[in-house]
Amino acid sequence: MDTGSGNEELKILYLEDIEEDAVLVKRQLKQEGLSFKFDHVSAEHEFRDKLNSEKYDVILSDYNLPGFSGIAALLISRKICPDVPFICISGTIGEEMAVELIHMGASDYILKDNLSKLHVAIQRSMKDVEERNARIKAERMLVESEARLRDIILSSYDLVWEIDRDWKYTYISENVKEILGYTVNEVIRKSPFDFMPSGEKERITFLFNEHVRAKRAFRDMENWNIHRNGNMICLLTSGVPVFDDKGDITGYRGAGKDITDPKLAEREITNMRDSLERLNQHLDEVREEERASIAREIHDQLGQSLTALKIDVEWLHERFSGSIKEAAKLEGMNDLITIMIKDVQRIASELRPSILDDLGLVSAMEWYINEFEQRTGVSCRLKLENIEFTDDKKNLTLYRILQEALTNVSRHADADNVEVSFFRMDDIIKLEIYDDGKGLAEEAINSYKSLGFIGIRERLKKHNGNLEIHSRQTEGTRLSITLPFN
Ligand SMILES: Nc1ncnc2c1ncn2[C@@H]1O[C@H](COP(=O)(O)OP(=O)(O)O)[C@@H](O)[C@H]1O
Ligand SMILES: [Mg+2]
Repeated sequence: MDTGSGNEELKILYLEDIEEDAVLVKRQLKQEGLSFKFDHVSAEHEFRDKLNSEKYDVILSDYNLPGFSGIAALLISRKICPDVPFICISGTIGEEMAVELIHMGASDYILKDNLSKLHVAIQRSMKDVEERNARIKAERMLVESEARLRDIILSSYDLVWEIDRDWKYTYISENVKEILGYTVNEVIRKSPFDFMPSGEKERITFLFNEHVRAKRAFRDMENWNIHRNGNMICLLTSGVPVFDDKGDITGYRGAGKDITDPKLAEREITNMRDSLERLNQHLDEVREEERASIAREIHDQLGQSLTALKIDVEWLHERFSGSIKEAAKLEGMNDLITIMIKDVQRIASELRPSILDDLGLVSAMEWYINEFEQRTGVSCRLKLENIEFTDDKKNLTLYRILQEALTNVSRHADADNVEVSFFRMDDIIKLEIYDDGKGLAEEAINSYKSLGFIGIRERLKKHNGNLEIHSRQTEGTRLSITLPFN
C-alpha cells in the first residue's frame, strides 16, 4: 500500500450528500499534488455497494447525512473492510463526538473549514495501517519461527537448554526425561551443576567461569552427570552467552549431546591398552631375567666344563708320543674346543652381555658394535661419550635398542656404513644410529606390523624416552633415541 507521497494513484471513496463539498475536497487534494481516483457517493446503499465491489485505500465520510450518519458509515466500513482507514469530514463536530469516532475505529477527523489538513491526515492514517500490517506480519513470523524451533528441538537427540545469570535453568527440552531421567519441571530453576558429582562440579564450574569472564561461547565441553537412576551420563555441551542491551551476560543457551556410550567404550579401550602395555612390560622383564639366568648357566656350567676339557686335551697333547696322525687329531680337538668356548661366550653375551654388568654400557656397546662389524662387514664409526645410568634397566634398554637397530641394518638396509653416536645434552641422553642404506618407507615407521619399532617404543615409554625415525628412500635411515638422564 502506498502512503500517497509516491506516484501511485490512491483510490478514495467519499461519502457526501452536498455536491459542492465533494468538489471542494477533490480540488483541495488536487492542489496538494495528490494523485488519486475519486468515487463520490451520497447514500447508504451506494456506499455499501462500492465497499463491496471495489478496493479502496482510504474512506472519507461526511458526519451529517440525511437519514444516515457518519457513525453508521463507520460501523458499516469496519465490517466490510476494517483495514481501510476511515476519516471523518464535518462542518461541525464536538470534541466528545470526535473522541467517540476515534474510539470506534476512525483514523482521524477533519473540519470542513480546515481542509488543508486532509492531505496529511490521509498520509498519516495510511502509514498507521502500513505499520499495523507490518506488525501483524512480524507477529506471524514470530509464531512461525517459534513453531519451527519447537519442531527442531522435538526431533533432535540433543538436550537443548537455557540458563539465567544465576546459572539456573529457564528452559530445558523435553528429552531431559530420557537423558537424565528428570521431568522438565524438576529441572527448571535447578542449575546444570546440581546434576554433576562433586569434583566434576568444581572442574566444570572452573572451565565455565573462564568462558563467562571472557564473555564467549564454549564448544564441546565434556561433562559427567548423574542420571536419576544413579548411572553416569557424559554430555558434550556447547553454548553461547545471552546479552542484555548494556552488553552484560544475562545467561547462556545451547545444546548437549549424550556421548556416554562412545565415552565408556573409549575408556574400556584405554584400559585394555594400558593392561596390554603392562603385560608386555612384564613379559619383557621376565624374558630378560630368563635370558640372564640361561646366559649364566651356559657361561658358567658349559664354559667351565669346556675350559676343563681344553686343559685336559692340551695336557694329553703335550704328553702324547703316538703317531703324527693321532697327534693332529688331538690338535684338531683342541682347536674345536677353542671355537666352542668362543661360541659359548658369544651366545651367552647375546643373551645377556655380562660385559654390560662388568664394564658398563659404553664398553658393552663398543664390544657389540665391534662384533657386528666383524660379522657383517659393515663399517662402523663411533662417537660415544662415557655415560652410564645408575638405573641398570635403562642401560639394558639402550643396549637392547642398539641391538635391534643394528639387526635391522644387517637385515633390511643394505648399507656400507653405520654411525653410532651417544651423548648428553643437558638432562637428555641421545643415542643416534645412522646407516647409509636404502632407507625405509614412511608406512613402516608407524605400521602395526613393525614389531621391532613397537618394541623399542614400549621399552622407551617405561623410562619416558622417545624414538624418532628419519628416513628417505635411498638416503639411509636415522634412529634418534632420547632418554631423560635422571
Ligand atoms: N635400517 C633400515 N633400513 C631400511 N629399512 C628398515 C630399516 N629398519 C627397518 N626397516 C624397515 O622397517 C620395517 C620394520 O622394522 P621392524 O619394526 O624392526 O620390524 P622387522 O625388523 O621385524 O621387520 C622392516 O621390515 C623394514 O622394512
Ligand atoms: Mg627389526
